[in-house]
Amino acid sequence: MQTKTNICAIVAVGPDNVIGRNGVMPWDCKSDMYHFRQTTLHQPCIFGRTTFENLPQKPLPNRFNIVCSSKYPNKYHNNIFYANSIESALQECSKYPTVFICGGAQIYKYAFDNNLIKTLYLTIIKNQTLKNAIRKSPNYYCRFEPNISEFFNSPQWSVEQIKYPENVLPKDTNNTFAEFYKFTLTR
Ligand SMILES: NC(=O)c1ccc[n+]([C@@H]2O[C@H](COP(=O)([O-])OP(=O)(O)OC[C@H]3O[C@@H](n4cnc5c(N)ncnc54)[C@H](OP(=O)(O)O)[C@@H]3O)[C@@H](O)[C@H]2O)c1
Repeated sequence: MQTKTNICAIVAVGPDNVIGRNGVMPWDCKSDMYHFRQTTLHQPCIFGRTTFENLPQKPLPNRFNIVCSSKYPNKYHNNIFYANSIESALQECSKYPTVFICGGAQIYKYAFDNNLIKTLYLTIIKNQTLKNAIRKSPNYYCRFEPNISEFFNSPQWSVEQIKYPENVLPKDTNNTFAEFYKFTLTR
């Protein structure tokens, strides 16, 4: 798909590439919520049906919300665009300079398998309690399929760490630590 739009993916990845459990994220990470809001505010955001249905607030405020399902009609309803393919979702955003693919696992997989992503905003979440829980019951979790180490090691991607001033970033509790990275396609 040829487009001038900067198609970005934004994802938070925990231990063992985990991104979700039972339709939601298996952590409470306030700093990542802040980062997500700062990064996506006033931009179009594309969601898979499952992720959208589980958002605590629907639609996500101050963003153009697009939801993908094979059963949707490519139509607007209450300012949300319901798209029957990721291509239709991106087409609807073609006048925007930037668009965010906001997951979940199926939507990320499709976007990376089809080389749609030009920029990746990756949060790495560290939490020892969660790591232990995943080790005990690995099948309960859904995962981000691309191999994260490839983004760090491939010459196709340049990486920068995003640092926020300490006084603006909400503090995390429960031994949760977040690091923020931005990867840009170099080719
Ligand atoms: N950690 C993070 O940053 C993050 C971010 C987002 C989501 N998540 C987590 O990811 C999990 C959900 O992921 P998921 O893979 O189960 O669901 P999902 O990707 O959110 O949604 C899957 C649904 O999207 C639709 N879909 C998928 N590919 C499509 C395509 N090519 N064209 C049109 N529609 C398409 C299908 O809907 P139909 O079945 O109706 O056809 C499919 O069932 C949740 O646990 C959520 O919390 C984590």
